[in-house]
Amino acid sequence: MLIFKKVADLRQWLDQQTIPVGFAPTMGALHDGHLELIRMAKREGCLAVASIFINPTQFNDPKDLEKYPRTAEKDAAMLLTADCDALFIPPVEEVYPPGKDLTIELDFKQLDKVMEGEFRPGHFKGMATVVNRLLDIVRPQRLYMGQKDFQQLSIVRDMIRQLGLSVELVMCPTVRESDGLAMSSRNVRLSPEMRALAPLIHQTLQWAKTAMEKGKPAAETQTEALEKLALSGLRPEYFEIVDGTSLLNVGKSSDNDFIVACTAAFAGEVRLIDNLVLK
Ligand code: PAJ
Repeated sequence: MLIFKKVADLRQWLDQQTIPVGFAPTMGALHDGHLELIRMAKREGCLAVASIFINPTQFNDPKDLEKYPRTAEKDAAMLLTADCDALFIPPVEEVYPPGKDLTIELDFKQLDKVMEGEFRPGHFKGMATVVNRLLDIVRPQRLYMGQKDFQQLSIVRDMIRQLGLSVELVMCPTVRESDGLAMSSRNVRLSPEMRALAPLIHQTLQWAKTAMEKGKPAAETQTEALEKLALSGLRPEYFEIVDGTSLLNVGKSSDNDFIVACTAAFAGEVRLIDNLVLK
């Protein structure tokens, strides 16, 4: 696996390649969910390129940025096991050259305002800016992203459409621990007590799926799910049952063809998100 720190060096190498490039942007602290993106790219015959860049512009909470795990050496070793071809791990000034404003100013309508948008102001603007910048650097044929961040994926899909970018977005199913907890770089920060509670997030999403299938209206399901999470000792921020395309709330199961439940909850000091396709 080749490791690049500079845009120019990465570009020079990429320009010599002949097979399609599959790109998986990450912020490091890699786990099996990230590696699955690389494995998927390889299975689909791509040259797999990963990036590790802890993007300062998408952290609304400076403490979260400060505490974000930094494990570059271990990450590189893990990427190697997944047969990754190249790792791009740039310093901030390579991504954001001083004096150049690369901020993306797109109107995502409700997509970046609901759920995470409500609780993490500015997060999606920073995320879209860095994904657009990384796409501009790597110019992949395919972009591999995880369902784990369902709203992020919806916004990237809309950005690709709005900017007319010629890249295919591939969604990789959420990789979970054996007890159902969605893998996340933040999980290492969970106390043993909170680690034991955290699988309740996935269990509550599954409960909501069954409840909706039995005809419970979405509004009631949401309220009860929030109660379940709060009673357990987690601190939920939201539990929304939305149309998988518009991310707008749905009424009942029979009203929509594509329904997703999305939630965010604090387990101690650690904010976790997860989602489940209900229909
Ligand atoms: P990060 O949280 O490191 O995630 C990188 C990619 O891995 C994202 O596409 C995310 O959805 C995917 N991913 C994370 N956990 C996963 C899991 N358990 N199963 C499957 N895929 C999973 O998301 C970001 O970084 C950043 O916002 C980024 C897109 C890199 C822009 O800075």
